[in-house]
Amino acid sequence: MSPTTDNSSNNPFANYQFEIYNEGLAGKLPTLPIAFTELEQRAREKLDRGAFDYVAGGAGAEETMRSNREAFGRWRIAPRMLRNVESRNLGLNLLGFDMPAPLLIAPVGVLSIVHPEAELAVARAASSMGLTMLLSTVSSYPLEEVSRSAATTETFRGWFQLYWPKNRDFVSSLLHRAEQAGYSALVVTLDSKFLGWRPRDLAGSYLPFLRGAGIANYISDPIFCAGLKCPPAEDMASAILHWTQLFSETNITWDDLKFLRAQTRLPILLKGVLHADDVRRAADFGMDAIVVSNHGGRQVDGAVAALDCLPGAVAGAGKMPVLFDSGIRSGADIVKALALGAKAVLIGRPYVYGLALGGEAGVKAVLRGLLAELDLTMALSGIPDLDGLTPELLEKVH
Ligand code: FNR
Repeated sequence: MSPTTDNSSNNPFANYQFEIYNEGLAGKLPTLPIAFTELEQRAREKLDRGAFDYVAGGAGAEETMRSNREAFGRWRIAPRMLRNVESRNLGLNLLGFDMPAPLLIAPVGVLSIVHPEAELAVARAASSMGLTMLLSTVSSYPLEEVSRSAATTETFRGWFQLYWPKNRDFVSSLLHRAEQAGYSALVVTLDSKFLGWRPRDLAGSYLPFLRGAGIANYISDPIFCAGLKCPPAEDMASAILHWTQLFSETNITWDDLKFLRAQTRLPILLKGVLHADDVRRAADFGMDAIVVSNHGGRQVDGAVAALDCLPGAVAGAGKMPVLFDSGIRSGADIVKALALGAKAVLIGRPYVYGLALGGEAGVKAVLRGLLAELDLTMALSGIPDLDGLTPELLEKVH
């Protein structure tokens, strides 16, 4: 096949490969590495050591981080032949939202450590592709600025991720602001009541929040600021100290979800659920969806690989949709997670490296590459749409 041949015109995702090959004919090679390992290596070369380690590192001996990857290696795709895959449909409706593909942008805090445009660039990239971005509570820019930045390109599709702080008025204020700014779902992260033990960050004494990065949503909040003697601009040190005191409500339990439900009409997702019993409880408490995740191995080292929890979680979830993250590095990984029952996946570190290396364009390049590989992996496996991704497509190897 000639590289100029476009044999997949019904499929804009797969067509990305021909865009790349055609540009190559004109002497232009991709500016970002295509393979994940090279992407990570280039980010390592570009970033300060502290920033790179903060992104790339995990908790403890990083065994869970490695396990997340190893779990993908235990599943293999068994492609099927002679099926009509001329045109594929990767679209879905999730929680009432139409999405072009089962891929969302994971909430990653304090992106200013890798690129000055941080979440603004990610929001622009995501919205130009019609993808949904989950904005972290600990973003570098206030949530209002992030949603405004995206709207200049296309309609903003954002969900707000909540780290549940102390002080319920402050929780309400954040939720109210997120709703006002156009965020259309709330994602409560449960696995980070405390910061995990992270040797790389500890060795370099690197915690960006203590230097005033990643606290934009706090210092722009009236309830947060009401607890300060003077505005953050005049005394940042006190604002940071106040942040350390308010950051996490560590005594919340299942019953507190009722408070959240009463605060907002938005769909509520719980992120960081692993155990099937917790999945069932989430369903019992009327949650709209869960994200099976171990935070990319950054919290409990020795914890089970997220992918290993996925089948049990799907079984326990009943009709409640299950999303997945932790360890996705390729389109084939996405196929495996979807075949094991996830409705959609969240992309984490890969897009952060794209941002580090190329800002908005870098994020787009990484996401387009993942979508192209997802589309092609499905096509080459004989699967034209997401309904065709079932456990029968996979074989377990030992
Ligand atoms: C995260 N993650 C995260 N999750 C969350 O709910 N709120 C947050 O602010 C952050 N911040 C954050 C920072 C960094 C540097 C990383 C790498 C991750 C977790 C994130 O949403 C997701 O669960 C993981 O990134 C998934 O793992 P992989 O695919 O990146 O390995």
